Amino acid sequence: MHSEKIGVLDSGIGGLTVVKELQKYLPNEDIIYYGDNINCPYGNKTQTEIIDLTEKILGFFEEKNVKIVVVACNTISSIVKKLSKSYKFLIIDIVSPTAEYISKQDISEIGLIATKFTIGSQIYNTSIEKLNPAQRIIGEDSEELAQKIESVNINVDELNNIIKTHIENITDKSNVKKIILGCTHYPVYQEYFEENAPEIEFINPAKLQAIRVGDVLDKIELISEFTTGNVEIYTTGNKDIYNFIIKKLKIKNIAKITQINK
Ligand code: DGL
Repeated sequence: MHSEKIGVLDSGIGGLTVVKELQKYLPNEDIIYYGDNINCPYGNKTQTEIIDLTEKILGFFEEKNVKIVVVACNTISSIVKKLSKSYKFLIIDIVSPTAEYISKQDISEIGLIATKFTIGSQIYNTSIEKLNPAQRIIGEDSEELAQKIESVNINVDELNNIIKTHIENITDKSNVKKIILGCTHYPVYQEYFEENAPEIEFINPAKLQAIRVGDVLDKIELISEFTTGNVEIYTTGNKDIYNFIIKKLKIKNIAKITQINK
């Protein structure tokens, strides 16, 4: 018997950008969010480390009997096909719906800013290439941006400079008109990307993933109509950053935030 709940996972607070979109498209769905903040950033880890950590989180969702798991994290989405176990719930990654959306766009080049692991995995390149071989990704990795966004004492000028440099590293070598924000943490500060390059469209994959989740739930007839859309948060880290980001993203209906030991 499935519970009514959707499991959302991320290495940290970044997946709240997906929760925000899920609340827009699927307002009645109850959500269990897992942020592995103590182990964040995943983006600088090895594939084996990321697989091990992810399987622990999926074990948690098995115990919670969720009806579907949304892998908000791009870095984890890069390895979902390499998991050693299979699960009774469907797993929705964030890269596939984004690659499908991009492949239908009439553009030959697209920028991508993401973690070191995501860029190194070439997951966006291979996923888009399969659908539209004429498109080319201009990738830019960041070893520090996600971690800076995780910080409660955020230094706005420093953050802005890092963002500016990453955008320039792409625009210096290409004429891209669109850049994918390929890490869930980045859309938390999407306004900084837009202010630095108003001529560029920054694509937030969270929206595309939320629409995909709705389509899948509809297909398997597991849309919740009578639940209230509560969000339960579990974190292996500090609760303070959650209170800050929830406010910034205007996330509603937080039922509880629980710190868990890993
Ligand atoms: N949330 C992760 C992603 O979307 C990035 C953060 C990390 O490196 O753990 O790729």
